[in-house]
Amino acid sequence: MHDFFPGLAGVPAARSKISFVDGQKGILEYRGICIEELAEHSTFPETTYLLLYNRLPSQKELDAFNSDLSHHRRIKYRITDLIKCLPEYGHPMDALQATVAALGMFYPQPNVQDAEANYWAAVRLIAKLPTIVATYARLRHGNEQIQPRDDLTHAENFFYMLFGTVPDPSLARILDVSLILHAEHTMNASTFSGLVTASTLSDAYSVISSAIGTLKGSLHGGANEQAIKMLEEIESVDRVQSYIEQKLAAKKRIMGFGHRIYKVKDTRAMILQRHAKQVCEHTGQSHLFEIAQEVERVMDQLISHKGVSANLDLYSGLVYRAMGIAPDCFTPVFAIARVAGWLAHCFEQFQDNRLFRPDQIYEGERARPYLPMSVRHSQAQL
Ligand code: ACO
Repeated sequence: MHDFFPGLAGVPAARSKISFVDGQKGILEYRGICIEELAEHSTFPETTYLLLYNRLPSQKELDAFNSDLSHHRRIKYRITDLIKCLPEYGHPMDALQATVAALGMFYPQPNVQDAEANYWAAVRLIAKLPTIVATYARLRHGNEQIQPRDDLTHAENFFYMLFGTVPDPSLARILDVSLILHAEHTMNASTFSGLVTASTLSDAYSVISSAIGTLKGSLHGGANEQAIKMLEEIESVDRVQSYIEQKLAAKKRIMGFGHRIYKVKDTRAMILQRHAKQVCEHTGQSHLFEIAQEVERVMDQLISHKGVSANLDLYSGLVYRAMGIAPDCFTPVFAIARVAGWLAHCFEQFQDNRLFRPDQIYEGERARPYLPMSVRHSQAQL
């Protein structure tokens, strides 16, 4: 008899050197460097380099990496045409997943263990994901696509492609920090699904499109969109207590709270909370931030004994909404960041690959006879 662990909780799926989490102490490290330091001093491209190559780049290496990224931001016109054909009422995560899968057809990769080819696949994916998200976000409303600019940073350029204006430096920095905080998080659901795809020796584009499909769900990356909907639905601080009590009494999940690994407040949530306060004040939208604070206070009172605390999805949505990003694009922004971690895990898997092929505990019937249709028909009439 096999042991069974629903949701594979606590079951290691890989040996990895990419990131470390201590959910009891709230520690998160990328390649051994704590997330607070990276959020304070690094940039998203530098953190991506760290995740991919297990070391911080020299200035020359970082310049070359940034240059490769900025030169691969554009998407082929046929990719833009493909995005134009997608329904304008569809979810941007579906548009992103479909477009990334199609991207793989334009850049076929026969040998997935070729390091040089993997580098260019990584550069294309990291560089083009923001362009795809911004293109769909604009085209679906009948707006013109805005071409990327090589002279802007990764975060600035994404904002520019969405809105046609360069963000002020403090806003661009907050977006960059948010990308750093979302770039990697050990063996989460989307990383695992990407890893399963990688283990079949499928290419990086298929790996990333699998991971995007998994990130979309509301128990994972989709929680940021649901969290902001909840804050808007609550409307005012004085309605928080009764709203949360009713939801919990009805056994509903409060989005932006709880984590399989963290049993204390998510470190990333604390960093984003500070930035959310700043950006909400800056844009005159402190109202929702105050509701979020009150939701956290009430949740602490009612459910912290279960090890349920705020996660980063409670505050990331506030940051993005204050910047003017549409709620259904919050999870795509998550994907723009997490692609770094997905790729790092994919390439680590290629180095020492074994096909994922888990077992199951069969609970169905066995040795049943095949009944001819005439017999099934007469049985159904009984
Ligand atoms: N709201 C209310 N109760 C909760 C929440 C929540 N958000 N999260 C967990 N709980 C409760 C459960 O009801 C359960 O209570 P019980 O023991 O009385 O039945 C207990 O806490 C343990 O919950 P599990 O479901 O066993 O925890 P699990 O590790 O499977 O779930 C998950 C983790 C899916 C993230 C969960 O906390 C959740 O649904 N959260 C809301 C969605 C969310 O914010 N997801 C984003 C996660 S972070 C990320 O992916 C980037």
